[in-house]
Parts: sequence; structure tokens; C-alpha cells
Amino acid sequence: MNNPFFPEPARIVRKYELTTDVKFFQIRFIDKERAISFDYKPGQFMMFSIPGTGEAPFSISSTPSRPGLLEFCIRKTGRLTEALFKLQENDNIDIRGPYGNGFPIERMGKFDLFIIMGGLGAAPLRSLILYVLDNRELFGKLYLLYGARRPSDMLFRKEVFEFIGREDIECLLTVEKDDKGAWPGYMGVVTSLFDKIEDIKSENTFACVCGPPIMYKFVLEKLIGLNIPKHQILMTLERRMKCGIGKCGHCAIEDIYTCMDGPVFSYWDVLHMKELI
Ligand SMILES: Cc1cc2nc3c(=O)[nH]c(=O)nc-3n(C[C@H](O)[C@H](O)[C@H](O)COP(=O)(O)OP(=O)(O)OC[C@H]3O[C@@H](n4cnc5c(N)ncnc54)[C@H](O)[C@@H]3O)c2cc1C
Ligand code: FES
Repeated sequence: MNNPFFPEPARIVRKYELTTDVKFFQIRFIDKERAISFDYKPGQFMMFSIPGTGEAPFSISSTPSRPGLLEFCIRKTGRLTEALFKLQENDNIDIRGPYGNGFPIERMGKFDLFIIMGGLGAAPLRSLILYVLDNRELFGKLYLLYGARRPSDMLFRKEVFEFIGREDIECLLTVEKDDKGAWPGYMGVVTSLFDKIEDIKSENTFACVCGPPIMYKFVLEKLIGLNIPKHQILMTLERRMKCGIGKCGHCAIEDIYTCMDGPVFSYWDVLHMKELI
């Protein structure tokens, strides 16, 4: 485990379709002890590699409070993800990590959490949501606003619909288009849900945001309008990465390495690093 570039073999335990272009992968390290002892933070990522194809980072979607299995939502975009989609359950895959800073959960304790996610932004934020639900006594109120283009684009539909009936999370779901006319949730972009949440206590709230680039501008305006302190607005950002461990400089912006100093940044960081979003 001393060479940080050395991947470890893992097995695909489950693989199924979440949407037409996103698949869910449940993975376990072949080494049983490693599988059980492996620890990480919500918001961290792993590097996946397939020999002869390449390597790419993917956010961990599972929670460290449920050890043994790692979960990922992966969208088919290029060579590596195409090769990944061809792998079957029980096939092996090489992974290394965990990398990145993750969410500062030690600072977020006792605060209310306001989670806003769009589309594939659910991948890293699902880890945080499940972590908070598993450690409910450590946190204040939990609000989740999730927007997708269509009902069929919403990741983990069954899971998020189950959140709606729970008392320990306030979950609002919205879609922009509903071709079948059967959508039971809200219609509109994710920012249209802000009006439906009334009791945000700004000073006592951490907001966590992840979604398509277009979403950030509008969500950040709303969060600033709610007076949530800038250092308590957190977002996970994507940058092209190669090594994942601060060696290649691929993800660098000035002296910031997004693979190590991120991928979770505060709005305060973003204001001082204009290129970040
Ligand atoms: C921290 C982090 C977490 C991530 N988590 C997830 C996740 O949970 N799920 C997920 O599906 N994806 C995630 N990604 C994105 C994923 O790593 C990339 O999509 C990866 O490039 C896919 O590899 P590929 O070989 O399949 O596609 P690539 O061949 O790398 O192509 C992917 C896309 O990027 C474009 N592209 C290729 N090269 C460049 C370049 N040099 N500059 C700009 N654009 C380029 C391509 O045109 C294509 O649209 C994450 C990325 C980061 C940095
Ligand atoms: S990906 Fe190599 S330095 Fe960040």
C-alpha cells in the first residue's frame, strides 16, 4: 500500500442501470480485511483504471458508516467509462484512493444541512446524505432539494422517494419535463424549490451543492440571498485529473490542487479563485 499509484484489485458485486447513460457499481476490495477496514469521507473519490484504457476519478456514493462495499454512479462519457460499462458482475477492476479532502464533517456537526443537487451531482452528495442519516444525532435538520431534467434522469429514484415519508429529512424533488405526465413531485428547476423551505437558520446552516455547471450560479445566488455564510456554502467541483495525488499538476489552478485541496470547496474559496467555477 506504500506506492500511492499502485491500484488494488476489487470486484464488481452489483451493477445496474440508474438512467439510460448512468450505471450503479457496487464494488468490494478482493482483500477482505482491506474491504472492512477501508475508511473514507463523504465527498472523496477513487481512481478507477483499466489496463490499456486509462484511469479516471469517480466520487464515492456510499457512506463510510456502512463499511465493506463501495458504491459509484458512473456516466458513460468516453473510453474508460465505455470499457467500465462492458464489465459484468464478478469481474475485477483496479481502484486506488480514497483521494480529495471530502466534506468537513467534523465541522458540520450540530449544524443544519441544506443539500442541493442536480442530475449526477447526486453521486458525491448521496454519500453525505446516507452518512448523516446513519449518524442523525450528530447533525441538526437535514433538507434535500434534488432536481433532474426528467423523472427518468433522477438517480436513486426509489431511495429519494422513500426520504419523502421520513421525519428526519425534508426532501423536495423536482423535474423540468414530465413527458408521461405521471410525476408526483414538483415541476421546475431546482432553485424553484427554495421558496418551499421556510425555516432555514442561516448562521447555523451548512449548504452543500453539486450539479451541472449551469446550476451553480443560480443556486449560489439563492444561498447568498438566504445569508448563509460564504465559508458554510460548500460545493464539489470537477476538474480534469490524472494522478489524483498532487503530483502531475493537471488539476492545478495557481497553487491550488483540486485533487487534494478539493474537490470540496467553499464559496469563500471560489470567490478568491475565479477559475474554479
Ligand atoms: C473528483 C471527480 C469526481 C468525479 N466523479 C464522477 C462520478 O461520480 N461519476 C461520473 O460519471 N463521473 C465523475 N467524474 C468525471 C469522470 O472522471 C470523467 O468523466 C472521466 O473523464 C471519464 O473518463 P472517460 O475515459 O470515460 O472519458 P474521457 O475520454 O476522459 O472523456 C470524458 C469527457 O470529457 C471530455 N474531455 C476529454 N478530455 C478532455 C480534456 N482534456 N479537457 C476537457 N474535456 C475533456 C470528453 O470530450 C468527454 O466529453 C468525476 C471527476 C472528478 C474530477
Ligand atoms: S490530478 Fe495530478 S496534481 Fe491533481
